Amino acid sequence: MLGLKVDRLGLDLDRALGEWGEALEAARGGLLARKGLPGSLLGWMDLPEDTETLRAVRRYQESLDFVEDLVHIGIGGSSLGAMALEEALGEGRVRVHYVDHVEPTPLRLLLDRLDPRRTLVHVVSKSGTTLETLSAFALFLDWLKKSLPDWKRHVVVTTDPTRGPLRRFAEEEGLASFPIPEEVGGRYSALSPVGLLPLAFSGADLEALLAGARMANRVAGRPFGENLPLKTALIQHLAYLEGRTITVFMPYSARMRHVPAWFVQLHDESLGKVDRQGQRVGTTALPALGPQDQHAQVQLFREGPKDKLIVLVLPLWDEPLAIPQGPGLPGFLAGRTFLDVLQAEAESTEEALAEAGQRAYTLTLDRVDAYHLGWLLQHLMWQTAFLGELWGVNAFDQPGVELGKRLTLERLEKGGRFP
Ligand code: PA5
Repeated sequence: MLGLKVDRLGLDLDRALGEWGEALEAARGGLLARKGLPGSLLGWMDLPEDTETLRAVRRYQESLDFVEDLVHIGIGGSSLGAMALEEALGEGRVRVHYVDHVEPTPLRLLLDRLDPRRTLVHVVSKSGTTLETLSAFALFLDWLKKSLPDWKRHVVVTTDPTRGPLRRFAEEEGLASFPIPEEVGGRYSALSPVGLLPLAFSGADLEALLAGARMANRVAGRPFGENLPLKTALIQHLAYLEGRTITVFMPYSARMRHVPAWFVQLHDESLGKVDRQGQRVGTTALPALGPQDQHAQVQLFREGPKDKLIVLVLPLWDEPLAIPQGPGLPGFLAGRTFLDVLQAEAESTEEALAEAGQRAYTLTLDRVDAYHLGWLLQHLMWQTAFLGELWGVNAFDQPGVELGKRLTLERLEKGGRFP
């Protein structure tokens, strides 16, 4: 299960849930009242139920036997969730390469080492208009067309179900394609074919992933005392009211090392907004990793400004790999497991932070697997959606990001060069 440990948080959560009950109920009610309305972008709540798409992705993956390298071209929400999940859960059946940039040298180096006969290019864009994605796709498409008469078998498109240039291109060329449902926005799309397709090729357990996310949905509907995302949203909200404007996300798991970048996008792009009263709101999500950051950022987290809420994420179980006796190791460590060390480190970090008056809590996962990562990601989407309601912002648009896209195109159209 996904658990919450708040014994060193320094807040009486039960009392706070009582005091904030009405506001939380209004947040949940307001959110759910919009479900099903066109443009609400709440379709992410339904993705875990969509086992039909899961089966279609699986059938497609099983129909291709040439794939040794999968090039996943997409940026932001069209890449970060796929990367976070596939890096954690993939079994390495294919090599997945993420192209979420337009930097010439890495693009050329990747092309140089791929064999087109063994490569599948997965282009992902909800809008079908994102410059970085379309330019990189043009490069890989050109390479495939020049190399293979049957290039069409080597391209798969994931985009809006009916609209946009990529959808048109897929239809005109008769390419394999998958939809990102109309009501699912980029950073909420990890459990759509955006993430399912690379996960299927790399051998992850898609059924368990969606089952975990369904569990998160069930928990989000429970009464306050058992409602994990309402509780964590409330903690985030109370910390914000205290002036803690940074929320650190710090998994103690090497496999989860790309999850913080996904969370940063989800939190910051959803919640950093001007609210309905014209006030700028939001907290800054900061990525960290345990134990590596115990030798880096934790110094600041403990002794720096009290402007942070620190969220640790810790697996409760992993295989019992024992530490042998070795030079420099204290004798009492012999026979203890690596997991013992990992957990002791997380506990010590939480203790050190609390002792310094910083706010920290821990999300626990029974283990790092598809079920628990599905649950964790869907939980964090619920938390973000609830916070959007509490802070009076639309957690599903991104006007600042859209402006950047428009200005870039305008600058290029005018022939603009740096500087
Ligand atoms: O969350 C979002 O909507 C954005 O970050 C998008 O995912 C990102 O801009 C890429 O957009 P698209 O999928 O349309 O190419």
